Amino acid sequence: MKTIIQNGTIVTVADIYKGDLLIENGVITAIADRIIPEKDVHVIDASGQYLFPGGIDVHTHLAWPFQSTGTADDFVSGTRAAAAGGITSIINFTNPKKGQTLLDNLQEWKKKGELSLIDYGFHSIISEYNDHVLQELPILAEQEGVTSIKLFMAYKGELMVNDREMFKIMKKAGEVGIITNVHAENGDIIDELVEDSLSNGNTDPIFHAYTRPPITESEATGRALSIAEAANASIYIVHVSCADALEKVEQAKRRGVQAFAETCPHYLVLDESYLELPDFEGGKYVCSPPLREKWNQDLLWKGISSGLISTVGSDHCPFLFEGQKTVGRNNFTMIPNGVPGLEDIFPIVYHYGVHEGRISLQKFVEIISTGPAKLFGLYPKKGSIGIGFDADIVIFNPNVSRVISREKQYQNVDYNLYEGRVVQGAITRVLSRGEEIVRDGYVIGEQGRGQYLFRKKNSNIETRVTC
Ligand code: URP
Ligand code: ZN
Ligand code: ZN
Repeated sequence: MKTIIQNGTIVTVADIYKGDLLIENGVITAIADRIIPEKDVHVIDASGQYLFPGGIDVHTHLAWPFQSTGTADDFVSGTRAAAAGGITSIINFTNPKKGQTLLDNLQEWKKKGELSLIDYGFHSIISEYNDHVLQELPILAEQEGVTSIKLFMAYKGELMVNDREMFKIMKKAGEVGIITNVHAENGDIIDELVEDSLSNGNTDPIFHAYTRPPITESEATGRALSIAEAANASIYIVHVSCADALEKVEQAKRRGVQAFAETCPHYLVLDESYLELPDFEGGKYVCSPPLREKWNQDLLWKGISSGLISTVGSDHCPFLFEGQKTVGRNNFTMIPNGVPGLEDIFPIVYHYGVHEGRISLQKFVEIISTGPAKLFGLYPKKGSIGIGFDADIVIFNPNVSRVISREKQYQNVDYNLYEGRVVQGAITRVLSRGEEIVRDGYVIGEQGRGQYLFRKKNSNIETRVTC
């Protein structure tokens, strides 16, 4: 099967140029000013449109059991939403049961992933330390292509590990060539602040933010980075929400730590005031770390521009407002932590980043596709448009605008964080390994066509900061 995409403007980290692409058996095999179609070749005209490499979202929680409930998107609805939003690969978190080995748990998650419409991989969460875990890390990496793990410094009793456990796990991960994702918040201080808040009768959603102040994130971020340094391991701080935490990443990078940071669209665009919306609407915006004061947003965008932040991940952890979020109407600690965003990450970062002049088109491609591909062992199969890459391509019309609304979304949630916002540009088609999975903005790809991503270990990653 051959496809030619004609007349598009190809955007990569290195270049922006007009050209035609030839796709054969799912892979890009030629790029030229003009490729003349032979008979029986499928031709797509992309005149006036950008061709971006497919988005890679390395932070999703599809089908994820959490805080006595479960996320509202499974691999069926979640990967349809991803496709509609220009995401062609995800790396989802596992969530091991107590006493279960990482390898057994992974097999369960791979089974769930078989429903996927786009390509999918996993980061293994380690929430329980034992010697077994250390023995499993090389097997995970070499036999299963799981070259990243995740540790939590918060959610005590459910996911949190302590410093000694973190050190032992990261030391082994460093030896094996596995990168460690870290949720950096000081769980003990938060638990104490939460107890105080509730005993003073402060139960509204805004107290979620007040009991997780920036210091709880920046302290844990600094500590995690020091543990990685001591363990000689590479570390990826997920969902950096504030300037103080980012400063810790900058200091670590300058010391030569193999440290990387991710932020999320909601921290770039939304702020703490959303938690104060009346009629418990604030509950929709409860996630951890919490939304911050608005001034942090500028510093996060600057961090993206300078290279301090390597990726934007959605942290898609969706819960229904009615019936899931509302459980915490009288007590913010009962509101499941997490927000939807997988379908919106690409358009939101394009609009507020590129369209509003905060980042270049090339930086957009870097943080949405090339950066995550390189960090998580998918490059040079995924993450760019070039000969030999999988033909994961987003065709994007920058000359139209559209309104984001829950009514038009594929995400299986009853609200959208960005309801009513007008964003510039629209995804017209998405190709995954050369197959059209979105046409005219509608998902046409079939469930189960996604392939498991067996990932390489990460090596020689650029840690340079230009600020
Ligand atoms: O609030 C969030 N982010 N929920 C998902 C779990 C996590 O911490 O990533
Ligand atoms: Zn987290
Ligand atoms: Zn998360």
